[in-house]
Amino acid sequence: MLVSAKEMLDKAKAGHYAVGQFNINNLEWTKSILLTAQEMNSPVILGVSEGAGKYMTGFKTVAAMVKAMIEELNITVPVALHLDHGTYEGCYKCIEAGFSSIMFDGSHYPIDENVEKTKELVAVCKEKGISLEAEVGSIGGEEDGVVGMGECADPNECKMIADLGVDMLAAGIGNIHGKYPANWQGLSFETLDAVQKLTGAMPLVLHGGTGIPEDMIKKAIDLGVSKINVNTECQLSFAAATRKYIEEGKDQQGKGYDPRKLLAPGAEAIKATVREKIELFGSANKA
Ligand code: 13P
Repeated sequence: MLVSAKEMLDKAKAGHYAVGQFNINNLEWTKSILLTAQEMNSPVILGVSEGAGKYMTGFKTVAAMVKAMIEELNITVPVALHLDHGTYEGCYKCIEAGFSSIMFDGSHYPIDENVEKTKELVAVCKEKGISLEAEVGSIGGEEDGVVGMGECADPNECKMIADLGVDMLAAGIGNIHGKYPANWQGLSFETLDAVQKLTGAMPLVLHGGTGIPEDMIKKAIDLGVSKINVNTECQLSFAAATRKYIEEGKDQQGKGYDPRKLLAPGAEAIKATVREKIELFGSANKA
C-alpha cells in the first residue's frame, strides 16, 4: 500500500519507535526491502536520492516500478516512496512522478530562503496529500554528491521550520552519511534534546543510520527520533555477499553466472540488514 509517511511517523512518535528509511538503487534493493517489511509486518520508507533516481533512468521509472511491485508482491504494509535530500527542482519532479513523500533539503540555503522554499512546498504537498521532510543544520559526509559539513542544527531554526507545518524534520546532530571515522565525536544528544523540546510532537529524522551504535540509536528514539535513514549498510552487505560468491568461484559453477543467481546472495544480505534494523528500531508488527 503506497501511502504518505505522515501517519506512520506520527504513530511512531507516539509509540516511541522509529520507521526505517532504506534507500533503493535498483529492482533487487526494492524487492528485498519490500519483502522484509511485509514479513515483519512493519511500515517502511523507500528512500531515493537524486543520483539513484537518475541511475534508475528517472523518477517516473522508480514510481512505476515501486507501485507495480507493491501490487505484484501483495505488499499490504504501509510503504512510502520518499525523495531523499531533494533539490527544489527535484521535489517538483517527484511530486509529478507520483512519489508519496519528499524531502526538501534546503539546509545549504540561508535560513530565510530555506523557510521560504519549505513554506511553498508545504502548501503544495498538503494539497496533494504528500508528506514533506525538511532539514536544518547539515548531515556530514557525502551521499550521491550531496556534501555536508556536519554542523549541528540551531534549535530555534528547527522550530521556525517545524512551525511551517512540515511532517518530519531532519536536524543535524553530528550524524554523518557513510562510515563513521574512528575519531567521530558521537551524536549530540544535547542538540537533539533541545530540538525535541522546541518542536514537540514533530517526528524527527536521523540520517546517517549506518554504523551508529545501538545504544545511541535507542537513546535517539527516546529523544523523539521517529525515522532513521539507512543506505550505506545495505550497500556494504550486498557487496560483501557478492564478493564471497565470486571468490568462492560460484559464478563459474553450472549457470552461476545467471544474474538471478549472481545477485541472489547480495539480495539476501540486504534482507538480513533490513530485518536487523527493523528489530532495532522497534517497528516490527506496527503496520
Ligand atoms: P547512511 O548511508 O550513512 O546509512 O545514511 C543514509 C541517509 O542518511 C540517507 O539520507
